[in-house]
Amino acid sequence: MSEMTGVLAPEIHPRGGAALFDQRIGRRTLRVGIVGLGYTGLPLGLGFAAAGFPVRGLDTDAERVGQVERGESYLPDVADAELAAVADRLSATTEAGELAGSDVLIVCVPTPVTGDQQANLDYVESATDSIAPLLRRGMLVVLQSTVPPGTTAAAAARLAGATGLQPGVDFHVAMAPERVDPANTAGWHLANTPKVVGGLTDECTRRAALLFEQVCETVVPASRLEVAELSKVFENTFRLVNISLTLELSDLCRELEIPVREVIDAASTKPYGFLPHYPGPGVGGECIPVDPLFLREAAAAAGTDMKLVAAAYERVERRPQQVVERLAELMAERGSALRGAKVLIVGVSYKSGVADLRNAPALDVIRGLRAAGARVSYHDPLVPDLTVDGEPVAEAGWSAVELAQQDAAVLVTPVPGLDHDVLWGIPPLVLDTHNKLAAVSNVAVL
Ligand SMILES: NC(=O)c1ccc[n+]([C@@H]2O[C@H](COP(=O)([O-])OP(=O)(O)OC[C@H]3O[C@@H](n4cnc5c(N)ncnc54)[C@H](O)[C@@H]3O)[C@@H](O)[C@H]2O)c1
Repeated sequence: MSEMTGVLAPEIHPRGGAALFDQRIGRRTLRVGIVGLGYTGLPLGLGFAAAGFPVRGLDTDAERVGQVERGESYLPDVADAELAAVADRLSATTEAGELAGSDVLIVCVPTPVTGDQQANLDYVESATDSIAPLLRRGMLVVLQSTVPPGTTAAAAARLAGATGLQPGVDFHVAMAPERVDPANTAGWHLANTPKVVGGLTDECTRRAALLFEQVCETVVPASRLEVAELSKVFENTFRLVNISLTLELSDLCRELEIPVREVIDAASTKPYGFLPHYPGPGVGGECIPVDPLFLREAAAAAGTDMKLVAAAYERVERRPQQVVERLAELMAERGSALRGAKVLIVGVSYKSGVADLRNAPALDVIRGLRAAGARVSYHDPLVPDLTVDGEPVAEAGWSAVELAQQDAAVLVTPVPGLDHDVLWGIPPLVLDTHNKLAAVSNVAVL
């Protein structure tokens, strides 16, 4: 046992042994603390509560905490009824001290990038500092946020520095990256999405794997923390690179007048070695536009460069401005101009079926259209208010009357239920950034 030097000397944990940890899992008495109750933390907390464990969530956002306490969901994938069903086992607080007594702490806080595109680990560090006083012997701490390789080991060292407890000996540390896909329509969710788990030691991995087996059908143990960290970052970089390739294909297909989706769907019939990605107006959210930067940062620190990743990033980053330029070109072909034109943006969230606007390509499209002098409005039933750079964007309804008043409409994010709507035929010009709408005379592809 290590010397205890922390301000709050952790007590000797009476349930520190491996057999007791396993028993507490089996008996559903293991107390789970979730730090960060957002898109990833709340469904996870709900999963453990539904599996019978007592769960206490910690969040710095008092409004979210109040909503969890009242059983009101703020996420598209969590129904109020699901919260109500576990109300006696899932609670939330803004006070870290109320998670004292947890056997497991799972950190699910944001990991954005700074203005100069470096990983912003402030949330991970402040969460680590707030749980340090809770650390006790035998506890398992899991980082679930997406992070550059080395971050979990650094967090473990930070906890050790604050408490004098030794990671891998006095307490256990693991990395279990989140793969949730909000509003997934293909049926993937917490339980059936395989979970990669890497520990600081074999015992850390074993405990974390056993823990996640309670809520995930398949757990994939990794030999090191860094394997788990890097696997997640690589998954999203793989998406970015393939999306950028699809954008290039889409541009070529437009020039050749070949329908790009049909090309991709034909290629997809190959039973092995091909994974379809489809064109769009760019990428958004906190994963695909962010995680490749973590990889690039890790590569730079290691003295290597990743030219392919850099090129893919640049290609995707330019896409929203390409939407603006294409619309200007199409309007010019019709003898009109963007300046003064009424342009409706259809779908503004970063993906279909969610209200999340983080890094949404629509925001850059709106900025570009405004810069070109267009009068922009939007339609997105999941986003009741929209402000871009401090200036509100007018909301427009989806009706024949309102569509007839537009000079152009741009499909940026598919709105569930609108894909096949005949009302798309009403605006004089429709720019379809997803190549999804029926090829009628007023519809042009990006
Ligand atoms: N959203 C996704 O689809 C998704 C998918 C896979 C991985 N991830 C990753 O999961 C991590 C979390 O993302 P998210 O989408 O759940 O973020 P989120 O913003 O939806 O939720 C994070 C929550 O953490 C809270 N928080 C911030 N600092 C805190 C602190 N010090 N203590 C307690 N609570 C704190 C915030 O108030 C917020 O409610 C990120 O690393 C992200 O990249 C997200």
